[in-house]
Amino acid sequence: MSKYKIAWMPGDGIGNDVMEAARIVLDEMKVDAEYVHCDIGWEFWCKEGNALPDRTVEVLKNTTCGLFGAITSKPQDDALTELEPHLRDKKLVYFSPIVKMRQMFNLHTNMRPCKSYEGNPLNYRGTRIANPIADDVAIDQVIFRENTEGSYGGVEFGPLPESVYDALCLNPKMKPWKAKGLENVALSTRIVSKQGCASICRQAFEYAKKTGRKRVTLIEKPNVLRETGGLMTRVFREIAKEYPSIWADEANIDAICMWMFKNPQDYSVLVAENMFGDIVSDLCAGLVGGLGFAPSANLGDTYAVFEPTHGSAPKYAGQYKVNPHAMLLTAKMMLDWLGETDRANRLEQAVSRVILEGKVKTYDMGGKDSTLDVARAVAAYAVQGAKTSCGACSSQ
Ligand code: NAI
Ligand code: MG
Repeated sequence: MSKYKIAWMPGDGIGNDVMEAARIVLDEMKVDAEYVHCDIGWEFWCKEGNALPDRTVEVLKNTTCGLFGAITSKPQDDALTELEPHLRDKKLVYFSPIVKMRQMFNLHTNMRPCKSYEGNPLNYRGTRIANPIADDVAIDQVIFRENTEGSYGGVEFGPLPESVYDALCLNPKMKPWKAKGLENVALSTRIVSKQGCASICRQAFEYAKKTGRKRVTLIEKPNVLRETGGLMTRVFREIAKEYPSIWADEANIDAICMWMFKNPQDYSVLVAENMFGDIVSDLCAGLVGGLGFAPSANLGDTYAVFEPTHGSAPKYAGQYKVNPHAMLLTAKMMLDWLGETDRANRLEQAVSRVILEGKVKTYDMGGKDSTLDVARAVAAYAVQGAKTSCGACSSQ
């Protein structure tokens, strides 16, 4: 029997391409795992009216962790038109299977490292107008995004039930919408709990402490989102007191987009509510070369699902054109979580070496190699690392 049982969820579009790349590397590294294929994604919404079928949920319950490619999500109106005809009158509601999975398995923490690897032609060089021959800006950030609450908590109404509408109208600030009429109003909520805020803030500080990082920045907007942003900010400040050697500071979501563009090297650990974390993680990914370099982990107390930050990029689906580094670095996070530290380190060193050499690269890095060519190059170095006890380390 294998040591690990891993739920294998390619999903949609380029999810399949990059998962195939991950498999090349995991197999070459001889990870002692059994991979259980799971149905998930748009195809299952269209055919069955459920993008996360119950049989997949059962597999997840019986596996060590999950590895996930990407899914395609569409707004409800589009989702309904793509349902098979016999399902159309069943009042089905589309939900994103990854969002559902995070909630169902209480994967409360989304950890998203963004790091510039030496030699990446896409590395950020600052605002080049001021300094056209600037060196790469060295970026090494880790985002802790709350993963089950906030704006993506899924509590939405459209149209509003009368009871909800009436309750809201008790608030005088509802006046402008009251004038527009119940049938013309939609509501998406942002519900946060003290427990959810405390959990994500503590994880960010604990991570900073464990890895010797000196700064944790909260991203919020408490001057406008006074209740939810206010609660998160109060909890952050309270927890920060327990970590006096770490600099805890705060930035508004809009302001940080500007500061991140000007001085990304100054930031280290970032912590945010679900939607703000989603936004800022794409921004940070852009600073280290784009979505082809951004891995992520959805972490719960006893289960975890690992996925690259990118989506299904339908226009590249099945072409083996996209960059697998995000997925390979995601597999590295999974190996770390499994306690396979040596393999995890070798995998990251191999990715880093392939980037530095610049010989095998996908279109986004100016190359013509395929997704699987890159995976094979990484796999070769990852295995070689084992033979030479970290041969890749000395090359950096
Ligand atoms: P996307 O991440 O799929 O792609 C946006 C663009 O980024 C692509 O067109 C491509 O130019 C680039 N890109 C993405 N991954 C890349 C890679 N590995 N290598 C090189 N370039 C890469 O986002 P988009 O187009 O907004 O969404 C497409 C679909 O994916 C939508 O249905 C969306 O809902 C879904 N999505 C799913 C996510 C998930 O599975 N967790 C996350 C984000 C979007
Ligand atoms: Mg996103």
